[in-house]
Amino acid sequence: MKKFFLLLLSIPALVLAAPATDYLHNDELNEELVLPVKEMLQAQALNQALFTDKCATCHGTGAGFARTSLSIKDGVLVGKSKGRKVADFLKSHGRLKPDEIQTMVDSLTQAISQASAP
Ligand code: HEC
Repeated sequence: MKKFFLLLLSIPALVLAAPATDYLHNDELNEELVLPVKEMLQAQALNQALFTDKCATCHGTGAGFARTSLSIKDGVLVGKSKGRKVADFLKSHGRLKPDEIQTMVDSLTQAISQASAP
């Protein structure tokens, strides 16, 4: 009987919660907000391809690698084991082109921030 009432109580909560996810499709969400999000997702997808292509054979997924092996110290992305700066390390590791290094560092940094978000 108690369970039944709990169920009844949770229905309005579900009905109320549903529209909360609709806001992304709202026409009123202006381009100023949509564009950066779209660009960010596209950049992440591109960089994921780069990681899969050049790093995944040894490091698995980018998010997993960032979480287990890297950390952020004073705002700088470093390796957990020896504290090396990733941006410097990648100049002679991983065969990235010079202009790909910063993108990779940004994206691994972002992977850590997302992983530690609640
Ligand atoms: C052929 C295997 C291989 C590939 C490919 C490779 N790595 Fe590595 N990577 C390693 C190994 C092994 C280490 C550990 C070396 C060490 O500690 O000196 C390492 C270390 C690292 C570190 C330093 C971690 C720390 O603790 O300081 C970073 C950052 C890193 N790799 C990023 C990358 C990225 C980004 C790519 C792709 C662009 C890549 N690696 C491609 C094998 C690889």
